[in-house]
Amino acid sequence: MLDLFGDEAPWVEPLAEGAVILRRRARQQGAALLASIAQIAAQHPFQHLITPGGYRMSVAMTNCGDLGWSSGRRGYHYSDVDSFNGRRWPAMPQGFLLLAQQAAQEAGFTDFQPDACLINRYEPGARLSLHQDKDEKDLRQPIVSVSLGLPAQFQFGGFARGDGVQRLLLEHGDVVVWGGPSRLRFHGILPLKPGEHPLAGPYRYNLTFRRAR
Ligand code: SIN
Ligand code: FE2
Repeated sequence: MLDLFGDEAPWVEPLAEGAVILRRRARQQGAALLASIAQIAAQHPFQHLITPGGYRMSVAMTNCGDLGWSSGRRGYHYSDVDSFNGRRWPAMPQGFLLLAQQAAQEAGFTDFQPDACLINRYEPGARLSLHQDKDEKDLRQPIVSVSLGLPAQFQFGGFARGDGVQRLLLEHGDVVVWGGPSRLRFHGILPLKPGEHPLAGPYRYNLTFRRAR
């Protein structure tokens, strides 16, 4: 049976040096995390950002924490305000911070101090093409990514866009951590398949925690 409530114990799946999937790690907290996302989005609605090249992103985004990731004609950047309403991003909920720090620790990264949490919402067909997370100052700090709702195919590649990729299904509650020698690996999400998740409806959500400054 589909294990929604986290009765299944989490397990660790190594991906590369400095990169692991903590399978089901956040599943028990799934409903609470989704409730926090809804609260944040009520104040700072999901937006389809426009890339520097002028394309509307298929993934809708909002943020919490001191800094939020944004995109516009002046490029990708971190900002302490939401450009759509000029207000500061909401604080990172304590449960988000603890989960991110514990997951990083379990993946071998002590003292992760995230100051930014990007919240992605994927609808059917939404995708994120291969990219590196490289707008952060301190690349010694890892990335922690929490998947919720509908499953998606995650691509985890090398250090050049054209390198081969591993393709991994990320399901509700899976946490991926990459840092150290894997910090700049290309990664992406293939177009989301339609579905209905009991807690998240027709969507996949992803939280990515970063130390931006
Ligand atoms: C990201 O690369 O920022 C998000 C990846 C994901 O949605 O799993
Ligand atoms: Fe990314």
